[in-house]
Amino acid sequence: MEHHLLCTSSSLLLLFLFSSVPLTSQFPFGSRKQAYDHSNVTCIESERHALLQLKHGLKDESNRLSSWIGEGYCSWEGVGCHKITGSVLKLDLRNTVPLYSDEDYHCTNCLGGRLTPSLFNLTNLRYLDLSVNNFSTFQVPTFLGLLKNLRYLNLSGAGFHGEIPHHLGNLSHLQYLDLGDSYSSPVWNWLSTKDLGWVVGLASLQGLVLFGGNLTAAQDGLQSINMLSSLTTLDLHSCNLFIHPHLSHVNFTSLASLDLGENNFNNYTVPPWLHNLTGLHDLGLGYNNLSDPIHGLFDQMTSLVHFDLSSNRFDASTLKSLCNASSLTYLDLSENILQGPIPSKIGQLSKLTNLLLSSNKLNGTIPTNLWQLTKLQDFDVRNNSLTGVLSEDHFAKLRELKSLDLTGNSLALNVSSSWIPPFQLQEIGMGSIIVGPRFPAWLRTQNEVEVLNMQNASISDAIPNWFRVLCDNITSLDLSSNSLTGNPLEFKQLKHSRYASREISLSSNKLDGSLKSFPLDISDLDLSHNFLTGHIPQLEDGQTSVVHMLGFLFLNDNRFTGTIPEDLCKLENLSFLDLSNNLLSGRVPLCLGNLRDLWILDLANNTLSGQIPSSLGNLWQLYALHLNGNKFVGKLPASMQRLRNLEALDLGDNGLKDIIPAWIGERLSNLRFLRFQSINFHGPISDTLCQLSHLQVLNLAHNNLTGFIPDCFNNISAMVSAFDIGYGIYGQESLQDIKGGREFEYYASSLRLLKSVSLSANNLVGEIPDGIMELVQLQVLNLSQNHLTGRIPDKIGNLKQLETLDLSMNALFGAIPKSLSDLYSLNFLNLSHNKLSGPIPSGNQLQTLTNPSIYEGNSGLCGKPLPNNCWEHKLPTKNGPIDDDEGHSESDWSWFYAGTGPGFAVGLLGVLGILLFKKSWRYAYFKYIESACDKIWVKTTRLRRNFH
Ligand SMILES: *[C@@H]1O[C@H](CO)[C@@H](O)[C@H](O)[C@H]1NC(C)=O
Ligand SMILES: *[C@@H]1O[C@H](CO)[C@@H](O)[C@H](O)[C@H]1NC(C)=O
Ligand SMILES: *[C@@H]1O[C@H](CO)[C@@H](O)[C@H](O)[C@H]1NC(C)=O
Ligand SMILES: *[C@@H]1O[C@H](CO)[C@@H](O)[C@H](O)[C@H]1NC(C)=O
Ligand SMILES: *[C@@H]1O[C@H](CO)[C@@H](O)[C@H](O)[C@H]1NC(C)=O
Repeated sequence: MEHHLLCTSSSLLLLFLFSSVPLTSQFPFGSRKQAYDHSNVTCIESERHALLQLKHGLKDESNRLSSWIGEGYCSWEGVGCHKITGSVLKLDLRNTVPLYSDEDYHCTNCLGGRLTPSLFNLTNLRYLDLSVNNFSTFQVPTFLGLLKNLRYLNLSGAGFHGEIPHHLGNLSHLQYLDLGDSYSSPVWNWLSTKDLGWVVGLASLQGLVLFGGNLTAAQDGLQSINMLSSLTTLDLHSCNLFIHPHLSHVNFTSLASLDLGENNFNNYTVPPWLHNLTGLHDLGLGYNNLSDPIHGLFDQMTSLVHFDLSSNRFDASTLKSLCNASSLTYLDLSENILQGPIPSKIGQLSKLTNLLLSSNKLNGTIPTNLWQLTKLQDFDVRNNSLTGVLSEDHFAKLRELKSLDLTGNSLALNVSSSWIPPFQLQEIGMGSIIVGPRFPAWLRTQNEVEVLNMQNASISDAIPNWFRVLCDNITSLDLSSNSLTGNPLEFKQLKHSRYASREISLSSNKLDGSLKSFPLDISDLDLSHNFLTGHIPQLEDGQTSVVHMLGFLFLNDNRFTGTIPEDLCKLENLSFLDLSNNLLSGRVPLCLGNLRDLWILDLANNTLSGQIPSSLGNLWQLYALHLNGNKFVGKLPASMQRLRNLEALDLGDNGLKDIIPAWIGERLSNLRFLRFQSINFHGPISDTLCQLSHLQVLNLAHNNLTGFIPDCFNNISAMVSAFDIGYGIYGQESLQDIKGGREFEYYASSLRLLKSVSLSANNLVGEIPDGIMELVQLQVLNLSQNHLTGRIPDKIGNLKQLETLDLSMNALFGAIPKSLSDLYSLNFLNLSHNKLSGPIPSGNQLQTLTNPSIYEGNSGLCGKPLPNNCWEHKLPTKNGPIDDDEGHSESDWSWFYAGTGPGFAVGLLGVLGILLFKKSWRYAYFKYIESACDKIWVKTTRLRRNFH
């Protein structure tokens, strides 16, 4: 998938370039829109018949070919004829505006079905375009190789699968061949070829696009392509092709446009033969991990205009050397390892319109020469370490600027409140730089803004009245993590547009007041972490667009009161709903079970009451369910066993009264985080929990559980092996768990690897089962406050990852195993208030754990850090020796502790806080979506840039 997702950028570009190549002009017809005068054209019956047969084989849901009736086929949609003979010369069935019918992106106006061989009867066909359709699972028909007169063949983004037929190599007149992917298409091609030898037959070829094709097996493919001396355009982006370091003689020296992005370069080296391509004006080498410096390599390329070197490993010397390539208008060096300051020689690139340097290690101030690049339209230095204060003077000459991204640098913007910028920006990236403290008044002058990111920009101000959060153009607004006050959510009715979807984040500010209604055309609304009050709004009459669009709704961490409105159940596309940490009360509406697309439902920490509705069992896609910190009562609904996708279940801190149902272990087999702390559960710990092989966090603390600890925990393989399930949906979620002696918030990667078992404060009896000693990945083991007896297993030394070990307040006896000193990571230990005896082991990490309270309340222990020496211990005392089962003397040394600090147990209770799954699922989701779409986004953006 990803492989194909990456595919794309340049094919369209090439198409554009190509349309300027004199190909189409050779045809005696113009564009499709041109009206033909066919009055005196003879209709060739066999060709009409062939077209009708073709139509018959095609699937045409939206009736695009409705004009294909009657005699005069020359006026049929997409058909172009020779003016005199009436023979079909052109068949253009490209889908220019794909329409999607549903969330599966099913393309309703794509043509599909089968291409009938009758096409072969269109013997004079010169131009065939079937791109951006959906012939999924069909192979490219071999009979296309019989259309000897073809000059132009475009099958891009049409869902063709399989091996490219070598028959295409018979098309010796072909000038342009596109078998690649297309951004505008909902479907991709899945084409491959084992041998590119057939291209040698395409002697007239000028443009070849194999973008996204799988050429892994065609190792000598480039040698074949090198035979094509007329090539001007070559797109091999994402083809996995081996790029030869040497070509004995470079034939394709006419190349003007070459994209070798994302291929397999020998030794990650730019091949020297690129030297010879002095006519290039467009070169793409992105996503190749190339690292060798390219000093001077491009000095002769005096016509190079568009150069993409993104996602490689070039350093600052490459940027310096490119400062001589004065013909450049587009330079993309984002995601490389450029270090140090931006060279001031950059000012030599006076034609630059796009300078993309994001995600490097650039530091220092931006050189003054850069601000002289008056043609600049897109300047992106996001995610570097640039410093300095930018003032009005800096921007004075950048009249053309459309996109400015300074996000993630140590920059500050210091302009006067009356500044009128010379530019009209469409994209503003000023996240995590200093824009405030006042709300930027200059934004008022910017009327074309589509994307505005001023997240964490140190703005402490009221949102001014003139700033229309929902102005028509803005599709993405992020003003989160500032100190904005007021309530800008006077949502205005906007005209409903089917494709517009906007994201608004105003989270983590100081907004107050109430929310009167939901805005229209919003796909993602994040108002979390503010001071909003009042009820969650009902939908207004006719708010159908909200119903359709809203996928993410975050109202958590506010002061919303009242009940959860049933209207929310109408938001049928909702996937994330977070209402946690508000003051909501009453029962959970049963109809929430209708939200079948929900992935995350978080209602934690309100005062919701009643039973957990059994309708929640209908939310079969749910990954995470947080109902903790409410007043739910009763039993777990049995319907919850249908939540097979559940990875996180937190019901902690409620008044439920139940036993641990067997189905949790038997059915919810994807669970990774299970928290049942303080929910009044009783009965034994079900053995079936051991079937949860992905389980990483098991928290059953503070209940009334009885019986033994099951001796099967060693079946929970996630705690046994270091195998990392990976993020799944979790990207940056957080979770509170005990680390050391206090609660700790785990984020993202540290949470992903957290392995923890807490069974403390129950009525568990018996010994610590040996099975637990096999959970070698455990970082936290808390069995305190039970009635456990027996010895601490010797194998405790196996738990090498253990950082927190709490066995306090049990009835464990015997000596502390020496192997405890093997726990090199241990930084919190509590063995107090047991019946342990003998010398305290020492060495390694134990030497750092010197607080005597760790061991207090065990009458028979001696040695450091306790003040009594073991040799003293051996002396007869007035209390007299007690024989333990190993025959060691165990004495009551309780008198000894008279002076030690206040009861540790009290402190401990405070410490055993709440294991809280925290929100941020959305970030996880974004991460998830990002990983899939990031590149698409990058590419489409780039594509858009290409069109400038
Ligand atoms: C196409 O041509 C073949 C012979 O070349 C003929 O048999 C067939 O009937 C033709 N098909 C149509 C649809 O005219
Ligand atoms: C069609 O007829 C018009 C006038 O009858 C003539 O001028 C024109 O050349 C004809 N076109 C063709 C393609 O024969
Ligand atoms: C590409 O083709 C090779 C064999 O030709 C195959 O092993 C590989 O899985 C294919 N890659 C993709 C992404 O389909
Ligand atoms: C260059 O192209 C010519 C003609 O297409 C061909 O004969 C020759 O072998 C090619 N040279 C190389 C090195 O591929
Ligand atoms: C480059 O690759 C070739 C084989 O393709 C190998 O012989 C050579 O040692 C490599 N050079 C470097 C610097 O790795």
